[in-house]
Amino acid sequence: MTFDPQIPSWGKDFSNNVVEKLLPYHSWLSSTGVKTGLISPKNDQFIWDEFIVHSLYFYKIMLEINCSTEDIYDLGTGAGIPGIPLGIVSNNNVKLIDIKQKRVYELERFLQSQKLSNLQAIKADAQILLKQQENTTFVMRCYIPKNSLVKTLEKNLEINKNNTYIISSNSKNYDQLTEKFHVKQEKFFINTNEYRFIDVITVK
Ligand SMILES: C[S@@+](CC[C@H](N)C(=O)[O-])C[C@H]1O[C@@H](n2cnc3c(N)ncnc32)[C@H](O)[C@@H]1O
Repeated sequence: MTFDPQIPSWGKDFSNNVVEKLLPYHSWLSSTGVKTGLISPKNDQFIWDEFIVHSLYFYKIMLEINCSTEDIYDLGTGAGIPGIPLGIVSNNNVKLIDIKQKRVYELERFLQSQKLSNLQAIKADAQILLKQQENTTFVMRCYIPKNSLVKTLEKNLEINKNNTYIISSNSKNYDQLTEKFHVKQEKFFINTNEYRFIDVITVK
């Protein structure tokens, strides 16, 4: 099936060669990703727009906030979303965290086949990492709702002080967070007519 590997206007500045670099991942998602149950069956355009373009916006945010942490943790990575596109287009070390060993094996196979040495798939419980990691940037797409994340963070404010959380979001409403957290919400298009939200959360 043909599809258009489009990049919305917000991505034009960093999209040189980016499409070419991401096409093997797209192809893996639509074949192995579906076959092994990492993602449910989707058409090629959906995989590009919803998984890959959405992930690129995490990269755009990291550039804008001048993300300086050495490691990026993608919690509940599943098929490597958004961590694999992030690692492909950046030089950052990206740790792909999932609690399911089978997913980690599939990710490892892909990373080895593509020689993506700045990416690492790790079987771990994200909930434990959220309580332990300092000076870290976390990215999360469709792993937990923002409110659940905030409840966890509230219990560990000291540890989480120097962390940044970049999380996909459904809601426009974040007023209840602003007492303890800085929240910056981004609204962006993944194609010509559908938009999504991502929140950037830091502890005040
Ligand atoms: C809905 S999928 C989202 C996957 C991917 N981030 C995406 O956007 O398509 C959620 C993933 O989180 C993983 N997961 C659930 N609980 C977890 C935990 N406590 N620690 C790490 N991963 C977890 C699941 O195995 C699953 O792969």
